[in-house]
Amino acid sequence: MSLDWRENAKKMAAVHATKHIADGYTVGLGSGTTAAYAIQELGKRIREKKLQIHGIPTSNQSFLLAVEYKIPTTSLNEHPRPDVTIDGADQVDEELNMIKGIGGALAREKIVAFASKMNVTVVDETKMTKNLGVNQPIPIEVLPFALSTTIKTLRELDSNPVLREAKRKLGPVITDNGNFIIDTSFGQIDKPKELNQTLKAIPGIVETGLFVGMANIVYIGGRETVKKLER
Ligand code: 5RP
Repeated sequence: MSLDWRENAKKMAAVHATKHIADGYTVGLGSGTTAAYAIQELGKRIREKKLQIHGIPTSNQSFLLAVEYKIPTTSLNEHPRPDVTIDGADQVDEELNMIKGIGGALAREKIVAFASKMNVTVVDETKMTKNLGVNQPIPIEVLPFALSTTIKTLRELDSNPVLREAKRKLGPVITDNGNFIIDTSFGQIDKPKELNQTLKAIPGIVETGLFVGMANIVYIGGRETVKKLER
């Protein structure tokens, strides 16, 4: 069965990104459908080229994929400075700032990205935007204890917080860390760094989906080719 163009674009971007992985590396394994292609390709390279690689999964999803593709896993506690992390994104602006977290793995993704020597983002071209936040809420991971007060504070900041509901389970989405996700829209975000700082200052917010100044390289899959942006 042939992939539709978007799946093909994601896969092409992911394959390009795995070229940054060398023998002996510790690699942050991102989450989402695009990162999954990179994990699959990494497994293939390990098998074919007999590479010594350790993966640090950013979610239960990427851990299970690493097991499936026979990528030995380790933890950030054992390897606190991964050589490279490959991850997807939900929106990427011209300065390579991003919104992440539609897959709900934003907290561990940001921790692993912050720790990594290099961050490679993989997206299809529909994720590119001039300004972050246009038609894209920011996912925010919050302690269940702090849900109502955080929603109240986010409303006071002129956004429209919505608790993310699970699809095949009653009640809210529970993250891999046992927390809730709030999706909240601010409209066009002109100052992502400042907004991230404001949100991070609210007690109870564990992490935000605003990734500012973290991506070093973005591979953007299109219908025929892959474009590379570098910061
Ligand atoms: C998960 C993420 C994902 O990287 C993001 O949602 C992109 O996913 P996909 O590649 O499936 O579009 O941030 O928390």
